[in-house]
Amino acid sequence: MLDDNHDQIDLTVNGKPVAVKMDKDATLLELLREDLDLTGAKKACDNGECGSCIVLMNGKPAKSCLLPASRSAGKDVVTIEGFADTQYAGIGDDILHPLQEAFLELGATQCGFCIPGMILRSAVLLKSKPEPSRDDVTKALSKNLCRCTGYTKIIEAVHYAGELMRRNAVTESHPAAPVGKSVGYNVPNRYSPDTVNGEAKYTADLKMEGMLHAKLYRSEVHHARILRYDLSKARALPGVVTIVGPDDIPGTPFLPNCQPQAYVFPKDKIRFKGEALFAVAATSERIAEQAVDLIEVVVEELPHAIELSDAARPNSARLYDFTDNVSPVTEVSSGDIREGFAKADLVIEKEYSVPVREHAAMEPEAALAYEEDDGQLVIKSPLYHAFVQGTESIANNLAMKKDDVRIVCPAMGGNFGTRGDTLAPVVAGLLAQKTGKPVKLVFSRAESILGSCKAPSVNVRYKTGAMRDGTIVAVEVDILHGTGSWAPYLIPDTTKGMELCYFESLPAMLSHVTGPYSIPNVKARAYDVLTNGPRFVPLRGTNANYLPIAYESQVDLVAGHLGMDPLEVRKINAIRHGDITHIGQEMTEHVNYVKEIDALRPHYDAALARLDDRRANAMEPWVPGLGVGGGWRNVGYVSQRISAGAELLPDGTFLILAGTVEQGQGPTTQFAQIGADALEVPVALVSVLLGDTSEANYPVPTFSSITTVATGKAVQMAADNLQDLMFETAAKISGVDRSKAKLLEDGIGFGDQVTTFSEIATYLDANGLSRRCTGDLDWNGEAPNILYGYNLGLIELDVNTETGQVKLRNHVNVCDPGTIVNPLAVEGQVDGGISFGVGFALTEAFHPDNPPTLVGYGIPTTMDVPDTVTRLYVEDPFERGPFGAKSVAEHPGISPIPAIINAISNATGGARVRDIPATPDRVLAAIEANRGVVRLPSKEELATWPR
Ligand code: FES
Ligand code: FES
Repeated sequence: MLDDNHDQIDLTVNGKPVAVKMDKDATLLELLREDLDLTGAKKACDNGECGSCIVLMNGKPAKSCLLPASRSAGKDVVTIEGFADTQYAGIGDDILHPLQEAFLELGATQCGFCIPGMILRSAVLLKSKPEPSRDDVTKALSKNLCRCTGYTKIIEAVHYAGELMRRNAVTESHPAAPVGKSVGYNVPNRYSPDTVNGEAKYTADLKMEGMLHAKLYRSEVHHARILRYDLSKARALPGVVTIVGPDDIPGTPFLPNCQPQAYVFPKDKIRFKGEALFAVAATSERIAEQAVDLIEVVVEELPHAIELSDAARPNSARLYDFTDNVSPVTEVSSGDIREGFAKADLVIEKEYSVPVREHAAMEPEAALAYEEDDGQLVIKSPLYHAFVQGTESIANNLAMKKDDVRIVCPAMGGNFGTRGDTLAPVVAGLLAQKTGKPVKLVFSRAESILGSCKAPSVNVRYKTGAMRDGTIVAVEVDILHGTGSWAPYLIPDTTKGMELCYFESLPAMLSHVTGPYSIPNVKARAYDVLTNGPRFVPLRGTNANYLPIAYESQVDLVAGHLGMDPLEVRKINAIRHGDITHIGQEMTEHVNYVKEIDALRPHYDAALARLDDRRANAMEPWVPGLGVGGGWRNVGYVSQRISAGAELLPDGTFLILAGTVEQGQGPTTQFAQIGADALEVPVALVSVLLGDTSEANYPVPTFSSITTVATGKAVQMAADNLQDLMFETAAKISGVDRSKAKLLEDGIGFGDQVTTFSEIATYLDANGLSRRCTGDLDWNGEAPNILYGYNLGLIELDVNTETGQVKLRNHVNVCDPGTIVNPLAVEGQVDGGISFGVGFALTEAFHPDNPPTLVGYGIPTTMDVPDTVTRLYVEDPFERGPFGAKSVAEHPGISPIPAIINAISNATGGARVRDIPATPDRVLAAIEANRGVVRLPSKEELATWPR
């Protein structure tokens, strides 16, 4: 029976007629996701700017999050789930559309959250333009946002799909990887297929019988004392089941590392806009939202400091009554800084700044919690470190035993460092505990942007001393590091039991302060500064990507002043095998910066030669430029023992188990390759289980580039041990000397006699022996950093001297991944890293008073990334890694930042942006400032720069 609040809507969805009764103000997205359980269309923003929710309506792309459901009445709607079928009716369920095939074949999907929208929008383009130009594709997809891929492969996949469609062809099938040698092959990604057809289930897609919905009340002010609050109106709203606040936390009230706020719910004081204070559980999301609006909180506003320089002032308002906002100094030094500068022929001292940045994973934070009959609390949530953050810290908050909490990581829509945040799982768990019902909490995009943890802002003063021949002999650096509203040294109680990386953030940053250069005299000081913002956490490349803007600008300035080739100055100073760094580390493994410089040289020379032509043909007011930039980063914080498991299954196949989580970066596939090669079996026989604290109980975080190199090594060790166990067992079963055994495809042979893998499994079971082996890696204590990765890049760009706009043309990126396990996966990480670098250099900055939207924050679009990307690798096997592999997730994003800034300077005859991002206003200001000091060179003069 319909009432005044509901409509009956008849429409066709994926070729089938449906009739749905909906709230009058429901959207088409709600109709599809809530009523029809078609969850392929995603909600990633609140305002129509991301394209993740796109469906086809009468053949046209429609943003279903904005479209009233009533507008779909009588229409023909196609979602990603029915896309292939409706386009090729009658072919069958397993057939993919060429676009889906092309996305898989070229590795154009990573976490997959944006992919349904990308594919459906591209389908419309290809229908109207079967052979689109690159411009056509970038324009058509410019309103579809992706945070993982850097768009390069998506654009390529659209072209490839167009080609397949024109030729009426299918993608090429690749030969299976050779047995025991799958590392290095593009073994098909195990995770991706579900991302192109809508089958991947993210936390917000999950539903349970009787499930409640939760919403958070969040602060609207930056800094305030909480005077009183009134929940009575909210509690009285029909449909509200419970409301919890600071007095309802049964365990520790603190959230430890990697969390946006210091307390689960603050009791006395608000320290940033967006801080969560209360949570409502209700029978629907709408009722929960209405209840949140009825909560009344009376506060006394206090002065606040958002900018780092404001917060660091002696008279700035304190965030905590018992401490200053500025920490004691952390310092490193080597050599004799005075002597170093006394020797220098040239001294350059400048200031640089990096803003607060947002991870902006396309899937907003979410959690679903419920109690099992045996009392175990199950929490499904995208967490990158399910074991420590999940079982330990959530159990602490909820006053439970660690083993009574099980964390399962469903499909994860991007991480980049933000998925250590347990606010959503703690709150969902608390509400499930209190109500005895399943509870789901999903953040809106505005909540996600305002209330999630952030990468710190950094202000740097950098002084460089160089000799006439280009040798840098001294650097002195001062750093302010904005931590948001919490710093570990201030509130040690909150860090109990959480000895992870972030206490070391200043030493870690200082260990990167020279860049990949060997400099004999160094002095660097750093200070944490509390600000009124969400707490800081790492963001892809953390500790290593704040400083290149400073040290690489300085290197270019040295080269410019000395009239030297910038790449040559880098080579003169590059760190080499055997050098001892400013923190006393002897560089004995995998030191590849010089090799990267040599690899880039021919590309740089060719770009330099092109620059003359580009300048000669430039269209005013656009001026072309060229820049290089480099950097380094330690690989991982392997501050604990890392383990993985390898198991022989009863059917004679194999299972690899690890605590790592899949976020589209590829461990499900790469661990299968590593495990298969260690076992010397076909990769098809190996499956992988990740991200479940009950089933794959091998604690390890998925951060800081350790997955391939360290967890992958543990996988290799576990598989080696399992192979050993199988030989041993087969010898016992057959009674033949083990030394006569030979590994076969389906078992172990002794002459004509074969003991199959499943017979080995049966024997182990029958004798009460484990079929699982563990690999334990213990690099803990290898100080200060086990290993570094290096990154170097060049950018060709154009700058509009009237608007300040920058257009990136060509980018060459060189990194050193060791042995490449899966080439497509590495390419995807390189491209994704580049787009982060581009965003940091040109568009991204968080401020709590800016619109809390993806575009307001500034994540790059297809229009922002370079027209072409060339990926170069120095493939130098890292002996201690799995089959020589290292990791590459974070390094490629470093070099684009300084390369872009140096190229802008090159294009404009020396206008240098020192506060990133280099927004059009800042570029124009730099041009103006440069005009005051040095006249803007003529076109002819520009042709000689920077030689
Ligand atoms: S455009 Fe609809 S969810 Fe972003
Ligand atoms: S693949 Fe596009 S957001 Fe992750």
